[in-house]
Amino acid sequence: MDTKALFKFSSGLYVVSAKDGDDYGACVINTGLQLTSEPLQVQVVVNKQNHTEGVIERAGHFALCAITEEADMPYIGRFGFRTSTAFDKFAGIECAETVLGDPYTPACAACVIACKVVQTLDVGTHMIFVGEVKDAEVLSDAAPMTYAYYHSTLKGKTPPKASSYVAE
Ligand SMILES: Cc1cc2nc3c(=O)[nH]c(=O)nc-3n(C[C@H](O)[C@H](O)[C@H](O)COP(=O)(O)O)c2cc1C
Repeated sequence: MDTKALFKFSSGLYVVSAKDGDDYGACVINTGLQLTSEPLQVQVVVNKQNHTEGVIERAGHFALCAITEEADMPYIGRFGFRTSTAFDKFAGIECAETVLGDPYTPACAACVIACKVVQTLDVGTHMIFVGEVKDAEVLSDAAPMTYAYYHSTLKGKTPPKASSYVAE
């Protein structure tokens, strides 16, 4: 089996974030997807070892931002290669909150949506959260970053906790 076949799948890059009391987390995902229009629902797929996964589960809501091509590797590194348990990902950058109280950064974000978790599905290493969209805002006209752009232009790597990670 050639698992590189799955590299042909297209996806975008997102930051999913959530806040539960004093605890919050945020991480890069490439598994944001619109599921339905009525009701308006999206999914995110988050590794159980990511701090953000537990925060979404406890909070019952999350924010989802589509990353733009303005994002550089330090930005991706902040949200995608470091953990919220050891590092405050929102320190030192502009921060806002959705109507559901989840933090996000408008920098390098094409849009933000506020979602209430309406279903969860345990798929082993990851949890799928289905979110009903409670609010949505366009933040920028800059091009949303695709996973292909991340690989080809930023020369970015796929970390082990990403759904698409395949060990060499
Ligand atoms: C390009 C890229 C794609 C990623 N895709 C996912 C994903 O779809 N799901 C996931 O759980 N983690 C994904 N990750 C990994 C998390 O962003 C990473 O483990 C992060 O450090 C977790 O932070 P946290 O512990 O604060 O939640 C991805 C990272 C990158 C750089």
